[in-house]
Amino acid sequence: MGMKVEQVLHMVGGAGETSYATNSRLQEKAIFETKSIVEEAVREVYKTVLPESMVVADLGCSSGPNTFHVVFEVIDIVDDQSRRLGRSPPEVQFFLNDLPGNDFNSIFQSLEGYEEKLKEEKGGGIPPFYVVGVPGSFYGRLFPARSVHFFHSSYCLMWLSQVPPGVESNTGVPLNEGNIYISETSPPVVVKSYQEQYQRDFTTFLESRFEELSFGGRMVLTFLGRTTERAPSGELCQLWGLLAEALNAMVLEGIVEKEKVDAFNLPFYAPSIEEVKAVIQSVGLFDLDQMQIFKSNWDPLDDSSDDYIYDNFISGENVAKSTRAVIEPVIMRNFGEHILDDLFSRYAKNVAKHLLKEKTKYPVFVIALKTKM
Ligand SMILES: C[S@@+](CC[C@H](N)C(=O)[O-])C[C@H]1O[C@@H](n2cnc3c(N)ncnc32)[C@H](O)[C@@H]1O
Repeated sequence: MGMKVEQVLHMVGGAGETSYATNSRLQEKAIFETKSIVEEAVREVYKTVLPESMVVADLGCSSGPNTFHVVFEVIDIVDDQSRRLGRSPPEVQFFLNDLPGNDFNSIFQSLEGYEEKLKEEKGGGIPPFYVVGVPGSFYGRLFPARSVHFFHSSYCLMWLSQVPPGVESNTGVPLNEGNIYISETSPPVVVKSYQEQYQRDFTTFLESRFEELSFGGRMVLTFLGRTTERAPSGELCQLWGLLAEALNAMVLEGIVEKEKVDAFNLPFYAPSIEEVKAVIQSVGLFDLDQMQIFKSNWDPLDDSSDDYIYDNFISGENVAKSTRAVIEPVIMRNFGEHILDDLFSRYAKNVAKHLLKEKTKYPVFVIALKTKM
């Protein structure tokens, strides 16, 4: 059985130096970048349904400022749209979903502070809204049938529900030796297992959301993909390859056991546009209303759109911090806490070296879907 993501994946909680809340600027940029697509989708839902109360869910909300950006962005759109249509603003029911290990407490504790800030900024009232936490995997049902008007999910769907079962050897011989994700040295059977796991997971995701969406419902999904055709290539293979390189160097120095690296594989998959479209089509329940790709620099603090690296060492450090906030719990569980600082400082150096050769960027996909009528 592949390792279930529910048991291992969560971002680093709290608000400390290594927390996700402090190191989520990369994902924050995507929320701003996709704002107009979200706006259009929410306005359309509102116009079609004219709900007295509107039900919205953010899937994989994590914790920290981004969670609240999404909540208040949507509330703001709903408020504005109702005014435009000359109606009084509906009440909004906001469901925040993530895996059970997520730091839901920190969301609830900071909610009031964010709400006050927003009210001050707007200098007036905001529509009444109610926030509920929903623990569980979005690869399955989370809500009653036909109960949600709008689904949003940002930077989540590249996480699989589990490490693909075919990646683990049942003969004791590691199949993906020296890698933690698919790479040019992965055998075809490993690549195929990853692809099939992605297809199964995204299918389940779409089927579950279809059941839960009410008439006229829509969703906007933002996730990492790849721009190359072949699966064992592309930007994310490079990114995880540099982390594998750091682990393998630690194996050579006797700090990490080789068997552990060989047996470790990330429950992650960066699909191509064609792969995404193929699943949507084979599921057949949604129309693809919009699709956009934008590029985001690996270094979350680098907002430039050129191919110039200002300081590759600082960029390397920034990339390492942002990656660490996401996968520290998974690494810790497999290799122990003692390797973390060493591993991520090696990783920062590998990234710095890589960036000198090529300023690689994340391809970020955003799709807007509406249910087929
Ligand atoms: C990188 S964070 C993005 C958080 C937030 N949406 C943002 O934009 O900053 C990805 C989140 O997806 C959650 N996640 C991954 N797989 C999930 C699943 N199967 N069900 C629910 N949440 C999941 C993770 O726990 C994590 O909090």
